[in-house]
Amino acid sequence: MNYKASEKRYESMLYQRCGRSGLKLSALSLGLWHNFGSEDVFSNARSILLHAFDKGITHFDLANNYGPVPGSAEETLGKVLKDDLGPYRDELVISTKAGYYMWEGPYGEWGSKKYLVSSLDQSLKRMGLEYVDIFYHHRPDPETPIEETMAALDLIVRQGKALYVGLSNYNAEQTQKAESILRELGTPCLIHQPRYNLFDRWVEDGLLSVLDKRGIGCIPFSPLAQGLLTDRYLKDIPADSRMAKAHFLKESALTDTKRKAILALNEIAQSRDQSLAQMAIAWLLNNHTVTSVLVGASSVQQLDINLKALDNLSFSEQELSKIEAICSPVI
Ligand SMILES: NC(=O)c1ccc[n+]([C@@H]2O[C@H](COP(=O)([O-])OP(=O)(O)OC[C@H]3O[C@@H](n4cnc5c(N)ncnc54)[C@H](OP(=O)(O)O)[C@@H]3O)[C@@H](O)[C@H]2O)c1
Repeated sequence: MNYKASEKRYESMLYQRCGRSGLKLSALSLGLWHNFGSEDVFSNARSILLHAFDKGITHFDLANNYGPVPGSAEETLGKVLKDDLGPYRDELVISTKAGYYMWEGPYGEWGSKKYLVSSLDQSLKRMGLEYVDIFYHHRPDPETPIEETMAALDLIVRQGKALYVGLSNYNAEQTQKAESILRELGTPCLIHQPRYNLFDRWVEDGLLSVLDKRGIGCIPFSPLAQGLLTDRYLKDIPADSRMAKAHFLKESALTDTKRKAILALNEIAQSRDQSLAQMAIAWLLNNHTVTSVLVGASSVQQLDINLKALDNLSFSEQELSKIEAICSPVI
C-alpha cells in the first residue's frame, strides 16, 4: 500500500450541511456510474478516486448496477478501499442504491423489502464494507406499497447496514409521502438525488420546495448533462467521449437548439473566466437547496477542471437572466 492522502486535502473544499441533518457533504461529490466498471481501465479509475480524495471530495456515489458489468463499479471501489483508502474510511461518505434491474426473477429490481435488503447485502460484499453511509431507493416503484419500501429502508438502518437513507428520482408528491412515513418510523430522509442541470429543470416545479420545507438535502446528478454542458462537444464528437460510445448519451441529444445554447452559455462562462463545466456546477451550487453536486469524470484532468468551479460561485443578476434566456428554448 503506497497511497498516503494529501495533508492539504481539507484546505480548498467547501462542506455544506445536508438538509437539517448532522452530516456535511463536500460541495462536489464523485459518481461512479461510468468509467469505474470492469470494462474500464482500473489504473485510471483508481487515480480519479485518489485524486478526488486528495482534493477534499469525501463523498463517492454508487449503485448496485453501476459498471459495466453491473456490480463492477462497487468492486472497483472495494479494491481501492482495500489497497489505498481503507485507513480513511471514517473520512468518507459512501452511498449505494437499489431500484433498477440487477438480477433475474421477481426479486431483482424495484422496491420490495426482499429486493432492497438482499441487494444491499450484495453491495456490501462487493465493496468489502460493513455499512454504507447512505442507502437510496433508486426509483419509485408503482406497484410495491410505499410503506413497505420505506420500512425496508428503516430496517436497513436499524440493522446497521446504512447510517442514512435517501430517495432518487421520486417526484414532489412521492417524496412528501415517503418522507412522512420515514419520519414516523424514526429514520429521517437525509437526501434526495434528482437529475438537475441547466438544461433539465423538472425539480424546480415543486420538488425543490418540498426538500426545503422538509429539511432534506439535494444532490443533483448529471450536473453537466452527461458532458453536454462542457467543452466536449463545442466542435465535434470526440472519439473517446460518452456520446461516441452512445451508451446512455446519444447523438440525438445534441439538437441544433442545444448546440446553440451550449455555444452561448460557453461565452458567458468565458466572460466569468470559467469553463462551461465550471459555470454549470457553480450555477447549481448557487441554489441554497443544493448540498453537493454529483459529477462524473473520465479523467483526473476533467475532475480538476470541475473542482475549480469553487473559485467563483456567485452570479450577477444580469448573468442569471442571460443564462435563463439562453436555456429557455431548451428546457
Ligand atoms: N440516481 C440516478 O438515477 C442517477 C442517474 C445518473 C447518474 N447518477 C449519479 O450521478 C453521477 C454523475 O452523473 P453523470 O456522469 O451523468 O454526470 P455529469 O457530470 O453530467 O457527466 C459526466 C461526464 O461529463 C464529461 N465531463 C465531466 N467533466 C468534464 C470536463 N471538465 N470537461 C469535459 N467533459 C467533462 C465526462 O464524459 P466523457 O466520458 O465524454 O469524458 C464525464 O464522464 C453518476 O456517476 C452517478 O453517481 C445517478
